[in-house]
Amino acid sequence: MVSTLFKLAICFLILRQGAGNFNLFLSQAEVRKLMGLQAELYYVRSGVINEYAMTFVVPVPAQVHKLHFTWESLAGRPLPYAMSVNISNPSALTSSLNVSQVGEIPIGGVQTWALSLNCGPYDAEVDLALRIDVSRSRYNTTSVVLRRKKICLKDNGYPGPEEVLVAAPGSSSSGQIFYASIGCACAFVAAICVLVIAYYVRDKKTRRHRDPLQESRGLSSACSVERGAGVGPAQTFLPPETPPPLSAASTSSYRRLDDRPSRELHERIQEITVQRCRVRLLSIELEGTFGRVYRGSYHEEGAQAPRDVLVKTAAEHASQSQVALLLREGLALYGLSHSALLPVLGVSIEDRGAPFLLYPHTGYRNMKRFLVRCKLSSEGPPRALTTQGVVEMALQAAKGAQYLHKKRLVHRDLAARNCVVDDDLRVQITDNALARDLFPQDYHCLGDNENRPIKWLAIESLTNKTFTTASDVWAFGVLLWELTTLAQQPYVEVDPFEMAAYLRDGYRLAQPINCPDELFAVMAYCWAMSADERPTFSQLIVCLQDFHTQLTRYV
Ligand SMILES: *[C@@H]1O[C@H](CO)[C@@H](O)[C@H](O)[C@H]1NC(C)=O
Ligand SMILES: *[C@@H]1O[C@H](CO)[C@@H](O)[C@H](O)[C@H]1NC(C)=O
Ligand SMILES: *[C@@H]1O[C@H](CO)[C@@H](O)[C@H](O)[C@H]1NC(C)=O
Repeated sequence: MVSTLFKLAICFLILRQGAGNFNLFLSQAEVRKLMGLQAELYYVRSGVINEYAMTFVVPVPAQVHKLHFTWESLAGRPLPYAMSVNISNPSALTSSLNVSQVGEIPIGGVQTWALSLNCGPYDAEVDLALRIDVSRSRYNTTSVVLRRKKICLKDNGYPGPEEVLVAAPGSSSSGQIFYASIGCACAFVAAICVLVIAYYVRDKKTRRHRDPLQESRGLSSACSVERGAGVGPAQTFLPPETPPPLSAASTSSYRRLDDRPSRELHERIQEITVQRCRVRLLSIELEGTFGRVYRGSYHEEGAQAPRDVLVKTAAEHASQSQVALLLREGLALYGLSHSALLPVLGVSIEDRGAPFLLYPHTGYRNMKRFLVRCKLSSEGPPRALTTQGVVEMALQAAKGAQYLHKKRLVHRDLAARNCVVDDDLRVQITDNALARDLFPQDYHCLGDNENRPIKWLAIESLTNKTFTTASDVWAFGVLLWELTTLAQQPYVEVDPFEMAAYLRDGYRLAQPINCPDELFAVMAYCWAMSADERPTFSQLIVCLQDFHTQLTRYV
């Protein structure tokens, strides 16, 4: 035990990343104003640039005349900066800053500054780029370029009561720094919102007539001509009369002018849009109160034979916000490719049918169900997983999570229920779409209306709703615990309302029976009170790999 702890400590020391030296982000109120989302958006966090967020051109609606940015130096000294604004059409828009163009990022707390945008007397769409160069050392300058597209409307040219928009209910913690859960995920979610809306608008326009809900036995021959037949035997889907109330609803005010970004995004969702009639549902895998997971088959256009898929969908009585959430969460891993991730394969948000998400199905099943089945194995005693098996599964999950973090995504809900595993113990992390509905015992509301995986949350996520790579590491510790206990409920004796106090007092999950000290030490590290003291996934992988080598040396 002692030697393992020592070894862990050494590998953390070796791998610890150099501390970054400044933050640049948009406050929650600002993100809400521009994108309608409840999160902070970090452009630079601890000196690391969020490349994904940087590529996103944020549309600035006509009624917004001021952009706010927040920064702070973490270097222990003020950091010199220089900034400049580049406007594509200076006759249509002028700008001014309320900080000096050359100065220092202060230490000892955040500073917010504003870029005022003053439209000229005519309608226009103006691109602007704000470039900030920060000197981190004499030889090292970090440059970021933040792009905006300002919509100017003749009738809306005067600074109006924009602050009204900012004062949103529920953003009570404006002064608090939420370590933006998601950095780029935030931009991505915004992107998805815009694109879902764009898609709906397009689809409404091209709708020819209302398709009766049909029974489709297999693949309809009309498939390539007419979309929108029913999905599978007698499966009725929710007809969305109106687009789901996505949070970026404010886009409507400028979509008219601002068509380009949404068209690009729209193309992206089109890439994975599948025709409903090419999907056939076979059997129900998991069922919740409004969501279902089916096994099915999908006959891709031009493919020889249909392929097996999993279909996540909402039931008829699902509310629009549940549907919106399904899409938003389901697309969280879209576009990623890693052997330990299960990203969405296709999506359907056709008019007149419940939206659904398609995932490749290659013998994987839900890990939580799998573990429970191991425990309740009908043939005699529980089919124990060997320690080696557990470590191998944990390693794969850690590699999937490491990849996510490299892509600057925070999963926020790592747990056995959000992984799949096959008979060869190959593991993939999935998104958490429908998990609340399919595993209701794993989620609790603490007075607010938000159903959260309380027992998997890091202390700071519980108390401040802060989500970071370090809170993913905490959840991974609980996932390890689930693996070694064959999916027992964590902290089963603790009231969800008491969890924060319980953790603050230093209590943690107990060492499971049969769990080797080395493995428990890894979990315990994941649950360090301070986020900085938790290992990263790269460190976890080294340590788990080490332990795995030890285990296999003697067999
Ligand atoms: C301003 O932007 C234009 C086009 O985006 C570019 O050609 C030009 O070099 C930029 N000017 C500066 C000073 O960055
Ligand atoms: C700039 O203006 C905003 C209000 O628009 C204010 O919140 C902020 O404190 C100002 N910053 C500075 C450095 O004066
Ligand atoms: C500048 O800092 C970054 C981040 O710390 C580092 O990756 C890079 O190598 C540094 N460049 C130089 C020239 O020191």
